Amino acid sequence: MRVAIVGGTGDFGLALARRLADAGVEVVVGSRDAERAAEKAREAGAAAGAVNEDAVRDVDLAVLATKADAALATAEALAGALGATPLLSVASELRFAAGGVFPGDDARSLAERTQALVAGPVVAGLHSLAAASLARGPADGDALVCGDDAGAKALALELAGAVVAGRALDAGPLASARALEGMTAVIVNLNKRYRGHAGVRVTGLP
Ligand SMILES: NC(=O)c1ccc[n+]([C@@H]2O[C@H](COP(=O)([O-])OP(=O)(O)OC[C@H]3O[C@@H](n4cnc5c(N)ncnc54)[C@H](OP(=O)(O)O)[C@@H]3O)[C@@H](O)[C@H]2O)c1
Repeated sequence: MRVAIVGGTGDFGLALARRLADAGVEVVVGSRDAERAAEKAREAGAAAGAVNEDAVRDVDLAVLATKADAALATAEALAGALGATPLLSVASELRFAAGGVFPGDDARSLAERTQALVAGPVVAGLHSLAAASLARGPADGDALVCGDDAGAKALALELAGAVVAGRALDAGPLASARALEGMTAVIVNLNKRYRGHAGVRVTGLP
């Protein structure tokens, strides 16, 4: 599988690139800056680094890993280069306030809003994997992935399975991204309260 990570120079994207490269996946690190992409690709042991628009060409799956408030504009800008390529959204909108960390106010998830901007199928997942855990090795816990397109979801589950110590689990349709993105706020509150890097493990499944 050949995977592009848009915004792969950040904490999460770079850790993901490392884990995928370790697992033998051909990874292209994307950035707005070609030099930064090349430098971070070397750091991660990835196959290549390129500006985002070039990174997403000729890949089986692209991961949208820019900082969350740039996700929609980036997806829109890359729509032409992406064409029909499946896109995995890992972003969650968070609002930091005095009372804690809150999910975004929009009723639709970022992933569903991303789907309205690109032609290929959007899947969502990996929200519960902390960049700090992923940077050290396969992340503790399970990875939850959702989407409406079976082929795209199978690719995202294959990717997820390569980077977690637990299982990659199919969490249903793309609308499940509302809960998965909201879970990020829960996890960040747990991390702040207990000073850790919380993950999620689903119990009761065969
Ligand atoms: N951090 C975590 O533990 C974690 C866990 C699960 C999911 N996520 C999700 O993963 C995504 C990345 O998180 P992160 O912590 O790695 O974020 P980050 O380090 O703040 O940003 C990631 C990358 O986004 C790019 N970027 C920044 N501003 C941009 C803009 N205006 N337009 C286009 N690209 C821009 C930058 O790449 P260039 O400057 O090189 O272009 C940057 O390296 C987020 O959507 C987050 O919700 C994070």
